[in-house]
Amino acid sequence: MQTPMLQFEKVCKTYPSPQGPYRVLDGFDLGVHKGEFVSIIGHSGCGKSTALMMAAGLLDISGGYIFLAAQEITGPGPDRGVVFQSPSLLPWLTALENVLLGVDQVYPHGTRQQRRDIAAYYLTRVGLGDSLHKKASDLSTGMKQRVGIARAFALKPKVLLLDEPFGMLDSLTRVELQEVLLEVWYTEKITAVMVTHDVDEAIFLSDRVVMMTSGPKARVGDILKIGFSRPRSRKDVMEHPDYYRYRGRLIDFLEGAEKKPVEEPKADLPSSSKNKNNASQPIELGESLV
Ligand SMILES: Nc1ncnc2c1ncn2[C@@H]1O[C@H](COP(=O)(O)OP(=O)(O)O)[C@@H](O)[C@H]1O
Ligand SMILES: [Mg+2]
Repeated sequence: MQTPMLQFEKVCKTYPSPQGPYRVLDGFDLGVHKGEFVSIIGHSGCGKSTALMMAAGLLDISGGYIFLAAQEITGPGPDRGVVFQSPSLLPWLTALENVLLGVDQVYPHGTRQQRRDIAAYYLTRVGLGDSLHKKASDLSTGMKQRVGIARAFALKPKVLLLDEPFGMLDSLTRVELQEVLLEVWYTEKITAVMVTHDVDEAIFLSDRVVMMTSGPKARVGDILKIGFSRPRSRKDVMEHPDYYRYRGRLIDFLEGAEKKPVEEPKADLPSSSKNKNNASQPIELGESLV
């Protein structure tokens, strides 16, 4: 079997808290294959961003390993493109200049014109061909996020890590940007891992949806394979008989996870006092873990 492009192996994360060490993730295992689009869903606070930021190299790992193209991740690097809820652009620079900042670092040997062409190409792909020279401060939230997506793709990373990239957008813009992301991703085929709260977004975009158990000690609870062919149209996906089956599976999982008792950070209890039925146990949905 092919080695995954991105692999989490028994990953653990412990944060310090006033009550003592707080184990957010414990034994998080996941392999994401080259060219795959994987979404991670789970309740707020279960550790989704923590997992993603460790893969980005922006957060230390407390235990286990994360490999990118078989190399252990030990820090941040241009082989990972990260898209957050808000894209942190430099407001006094234009859309083009903001994308160029990254491109200049990744293609230092290209000519200035080549680098500008790359930045302009990706901005055009995300629908900003007419706004290349607009200052970031003059762009709407949706346009800023388009710049964020263009910037991430322009770096040609091995993997894209997206943390609720559409979380700040109104529903219409959200839907538009999902299409933009899907279209650019489909031509570039960059391995992508996206954290989202949104079940419909996860189904529409993903090859697999990873369901995380509620924390503490969260891990992968189940994985749902989304069988829709690509390229996808929202209409076809929503009219497909499997759509409601997938949706039902994800919602059942989330509702099951919600009934688990522990949500708030608490210090790890000594093992003798641990409740055998607490939220650290993966939820069994009858499908084998991948
Ligand atoms: N830097 C930190 N220090 C201490 N606790 C943290 C820190 N970052 C996150 N946490 C806690 O870890 C848990 C998981 O956080 P996070 O990964 O942001 O969850 P999610 O993205 O799933 O909402 C939460 O309970 C959060 O309060
Ligand atoms: Mg988060």
